Amino acid sequence: MTDDHAPRPSGIATYPSLKGRVALITGGGSGIGATIVRRFAEQGCRVAFFDIAEETSRALVAALAKDDLTGHFEKVDITKVDEIQAAIARVRAALGPITILVNNAANDDRHKLDDVTSEYWDWALSVNLKHQFFCAQAVHKDMAAAGGGAIINMSSISYLMGATDNDAYLSAKSAVIGLTRGLARELGPDNIRVNSVLPGWIITERQRRLWLNADGEKRILERQCLRRQLDADDIARPVLFLASDEAGACTNQSFIVDGGWV
Ligand SMILES: NC(=O)c1ccc[n+]([C@@H]2O[C@H](COP(=O)([O-])OP(=O)(O)OC[C@H]3O[C@@H](n4cnc5c(N)ncnc54)[C@H](O)[C@@H]3O)[C@@H](O)[C@H]2O)c1
Repeated sequence: MTDDHAPRPSGIATYPSLKGRVALITGGGSGIGATIVRRFAEQGCRVAFFDIAEETSRALVAALAKDDLTGHFEKVDITKVDEIQAAIARVRAALGPITILVNNAANDDRHKLDDVTSEYWDWALSVNLKHQFFCAQAVHKDMAAAGGGAIINMSSISYLMGATDNDAYLSAKSAVIGLTRGLARELGPDNIRVNSVLPGWIITERQRRLWLNADGEKRILERQCLRRQLDADDIARPVLFLASDEAGACTNQSFIVDGGWV
């Protein structure tokens, strides 16, 4: 088990309005998504998650089961719209209508300007943006029929902080804000709230393996107002809040959760 799905630390709030709701988290097999999956399960939600990585996803399901929690895993490549639509139909049949959607899946691979091909660009926009729209499209009628719902789209502060070697990812993550505002306006009449979360640098197992080094640790301490590394629960907690009725009047917003980096 990685620390991306460690059991609930003490002090996390319980939201009565989340109990029994069906929550779908994309990219829930590892990283921030795995923590979000576990935290929703701990709230008494019926949780489904999509991921392309089968081994880590099955390990998460097993880790949840050890703690008497359930996660419904669907292997989905979220760049494939037909796979998204078919898997959402299976989740609906297995768990009931989805009223919480966390559009979390992404891929932040770095790329040099001159290495980007047309195919790479299309893939990067697909894995970081397009699925957020098509997942929302596939669940909004369920939410409307249930009297409302919550959609949380994961963006990133990276396009605000001067990141480099990542133009396609930055483009997609800034577009998530526009998508959020379009969907919030369109779905508000059905009491569907749509918000985005812009994480700062969240230290997951992947970030530690690929990008965090001594220089990175130094930059965190220099750039953040808060003098500590952020972890997946720093994002999962506000996501729970935004999904709950405590955030019942919050929609059309973008929440920066970065320890004060930008
Ligand atoms: N970790 C950070 O510092 C950070 C910072 C800013 C924003 N974010 C955003 O937060 C979200 C979660 O970040 P993370 O660091 O946990 O990411 P991650 O890369 O560790 O995890 C993403 C998950 O999505 C899955 N995934 C990737 N491609 C997929 C595909 N084609 N089909 C299905 N699943 C796929 C991966 O297998 C993985 O489980 C992302 O939207 C990311 O952009 C993260």
